Amino acid sequence: MTEQRIATSVLVIGSGGAGLRAAIELAERGVDVLVVGKRSKADAHTALAAGGINAALATMDPSDTWQQHAADTIKESYLLANPEIVRVVTEHAARGIEDLERYGMPFAREEDGRISQRFFGAHTFRRTSFAGDYTGLEIQRTLVNRAAQLDIPIHDTCYITRILVRDNVVFGAYGFDLDTGKRYVFHADVVILAAGGHTRIWRRTSSRRDENTGDSFRLAVLAGGRIRDPELVQFHPSGLIEPENAAGTLVSEAARGEGGILTNDAGERFMARYDPQRMELSTRDRIALAAYTEIKEGRGTPNGGVWLDVSHLPREQIMQRLPRVYQTLLELQMKDITREAVEIAPTAHYSMGGVWVSPADHSTGVEGLYAIGEASSGLHGANRLGGNSLIELLVYGRIVGEAAAEYSASLSAQQRSHSALDEARSEVDDLLAADGQENVRALQRALRNTMTEHAGVVRDETGLRKGLAELDEIEERIRDVGVHPDLAGFQDLAHAFDLKSSALSARATLECALERRETRGCHNRSDHPDMDPAQQVNLVWSGPGRIEREEIPAVPEEIASLMRDVDTAGKLVE
Ligand code: FUM
Repeated sequence: MTEQRIATSVLVIGSGGAGLRAAIELAERGVDVLVVGKRSKADAHTALAAGGINAALATMDPSDTWQQHAADTIKESYLLANPEIVRVVTEHAARGIEDLERYGMPFAREEDGRISQRFFGAHTFRRTSFAGDYTGLEIQRTLVNRAAQLDIPIHDTCYITRILVRDNVVFGAYGFDLDTGKRYVFHADVVILAAGGHTRIWRRTSSRRDENTGDSFRLAVLAGGRIRDPELVQFHPSGLIEPENAAGTLVSEAARGEGGILTNDAGERFMARYDPQRMELSTRDRIALAAYTEIKEGRGTPNGGVWLDVSHLPREQIMQRLPRVYQTLLELQMKDITREAVEIAPTAHYSMGGVWVSPADHSTGVEGLYAIGEASSGLHGANRLGGNSLIELLVYGRIVGEAAAEYSASLSAQQRSHSALDEARSEVDDLLAADGQENVRALQRALRNTMTEHAGVVRDETGLRKGLAELDEIEERIRDVGVHPDLAGFQDLAHAFDLKSSALSARATLECALERRETRGCHNRSDHPDMDPAQQVNLVWSGPGRIEREEIPAVPEEIASLMRDVDTAGKLVE
C-alpha cells in the first residue's frame, strides 16, 4: 500500500463555494492551504444552487437594510436561528457581493448598471441578486478562477475518511485517492470542514448521487465535534417527480419569484387556503407542507404531485430569468415550460442543522477544526430563506479563512498521535478486506427508504421509532458489507464510507426529530401540531442517545423591532 505524507498549514475538505472562499482568504494572506474534495471542483454542489444570493443592497428597494434582512431571517427561522450568526451574515453580506464582483462574477444588472435583485419567498424586499437561475454555477466558476489565479492546489479526487486529532487538537486528516486508491496522511494545523450536508439520505432530493451523504457530520463527530439540529431539513416545494433516476431535481424558487403559479389537479390555486396574503411567495416550509397536504388528501396529480406553471409569463422573461429550469425540463422530460406546467413535489433540499459552530469564527470546540457552509449550523433555524445559503458561504468563508490563518500562526508546534493515525489506517484496511454478503448500494437505498417513510415532510412518534428500529437493522447489515474496488477505481470504498456517514446522520436526525415534540418550520409533527415555546432551543447531538438543549440568545432590539409575529398560521398538520 502506498501512503504519501503531505504537510500544509490549512487543509480544506470540500471544494464547493464555502471551501474555496476560505482557501482564497488564506492564499490572499500568504498562508499555505490545500483543498481536497471527492468530486470535481467544477461540479461541486454549489454549482446546483440556482436562484440567487441575498444582501440588502437596496438597489431595487431603497428602504432595505441589513437589519430588515436579519429580522426576516430570524422570523422565518421560527426563532431557532442564532441571532449573532444572523447579524454577522446579514451585516457583512454586501461585502460578500463586493468580493464576488472583484473576482469577476457576472451578476444580472439593470440597464443603468445597478445589480438586479428579485423577490424570493418571505423577504420583505427584493434582495436576491442572481445570474439567471445559474447563480451557484457562476459563483463556483468565479471562485475556481480566483483560486487558479492564486495557485491554490485543489486535489479533487481525494476522499477524506478521518480527521486526525490528539487530545481535542486537530493535526490533519487521512484519506485516499478515488482513482488509484493511494493513501494520504495530511498534516495540518487547521482543518476546515466544508463537505456539505446530509440531504442525500432521503430518496427524493435535490442533491445528486454521492453528494451530501452526511460526510461532514461523521467526520466532525468522530473528531469530537457535535451536530446542532440535524432534524431541521428543508424540503423545497418544487422537485421534479420524473424521471425516477433524477427524482427531486430542483425547479428553482425563482420560478415562483418571477410569477409562477401553483395549482392542484383540480386547477385550484391551493396556496389561497394556506397563505392567502403571500400565495406562491410564502415560505418554503409552508408551501412544501401545503403541496404535501394537497397530494396526501387526494387533490394531487395521478403521479403524486402538484402543478407549477410559468407558461403565462412572457417567453423572453422565462428565457432570461429561468434558463436553467427551461433547459432542465427539456433535457429530462422533453417539456417546454413556456407552454406547459411542470409536475412537482417536495424534495429534501438543505440541511439547516449541521456541525455546531461558534458565531465568532465557526470554530467547533475541537481546537483547529472549523466548519462552514451547509456543513455548519446556526443561520437558518427551522426554515431557511432562499438565497441565504450562498451569502453565508461568502461571509463565513472569509471569516473562517482569517481565523484559520491566525490560529495556525499562533501555534509553536504540532502534536501528533500515532494511535489516531493507526486507527484511521486500519479502518480503511478493514473495509478493503471486507468480503461480506451485503451490497453497499442496496443498503444506501434501504436507508433512504427508511428516512423517506418515517422522517419526511410530516413525522410522528410511531414512525420515528419505526425508523430507528429499521436503522438498527441496517447498521447490523452494514457490518457484513463487501467492498470491491475494481479497475475503474475505488468508488466502492468511497460508497462504503458514504454509507457510514449516512447511517450516523440518519441516527442523529431521527433521534432529534423524536426529541423535538412540536411543529416548527420544516419540522411537522402530526402528533404535536403546535409550536411549543419551551422548545425554542437548539438540540445538540454528540452521539447515539446524547442530546443537549442549548439556549438561544435574545434577539437584539434593533432587529426584534422589525419582526412581525412568528406563528404557524396557514400550517395544517393532519
Ligand atoms: O430555489 C432555489 O433557487 C434555491 C435557492 C436556495 O436554496 O437558496
